[in-house]
Amino acid sequence: MSSAPSRQFLFLLASARADGNAEQLARRAAASLPAAVRQTWVRLADHPLPAFVDRRHETDEAWAPAVDGAARFLLESTLASTDLVFVAPVYWYSLPTAAKLYLDHWSAWLRAPGWDFKARMAGKTMWAISSFSDTDPALATPLRDTLRLTADYMQMSWGGFLLGEGNRPGDVQKDARAHAAAETFFTRPTD
Ligand SMILES: Cc1cc2nc3c(=O)[nH]c(=O)nc-3n(C[C@H](O)[C@H](O)[C@H](O)COP(=O)(O)O)c2cc1C
Repeated sequence: MSSAPSRQFLFLLASARADGNAEQLARRAAASLPAAVRQTWVRLADHPLPAFVDRRHETDEAWAPAVDGAARFLLESTLASTDLVFVAPVYWYSLPTAAKLYLDHWSAWLRAPGWDFKARMAGKTMWAISSFSDTDPALATPLRDTLRLTADYMQMSWGGFLLGEGNRPGDVQKDARAHAAAETFFTRPTD
């Protein structure tokens, strides 16, 4: 008897500190995932990517980047997932550097021979879990839209955006609204 392939969630921790508000909120949301769903948690700071260098137009030949080291680990982890969860606090209204650099590397991965990155990303679901020190959710719109538009470009589905309030680590525990939203974030009908 065959069963449907189970989902594999990749949580990409993008904060510049461990166990911060975004991560705590993400762990709360992940606790409600069914046991059959595989969870992989990757701290981007543990897999530092080199600065992205844009070689797309240096020659007339198509750019064919090699993917190795941390980039290869992150590319393989990304492709192995069905669901990609950015766990990323708001930094200057947008994404922390680690998350943005990871996305910039997608521009290389799209051209890396043999990986078929774009076709293999299509159909996955992207989610975003964030925290910020403000109280007006409109001020987190650039972060949310950066990811949502990227998902659209990659023909991925958009799972949704979960935002908590807090500045010092643990502050988010006091955000009752965010906690309630976290309980059903992954199981509610998607946006
Ligand atoms: C470099 C940097 C930039 C920040 N920019 C913003 C911002 O634009 N808006 C905001 O509301 N909070 C901003 N913050 C505050 C963080 O979003 C807030 O402390 C958040 O809870 C940190 O999440 P973490 O605990 O998961 O690291 C910034 C913090 C840092 C370190």
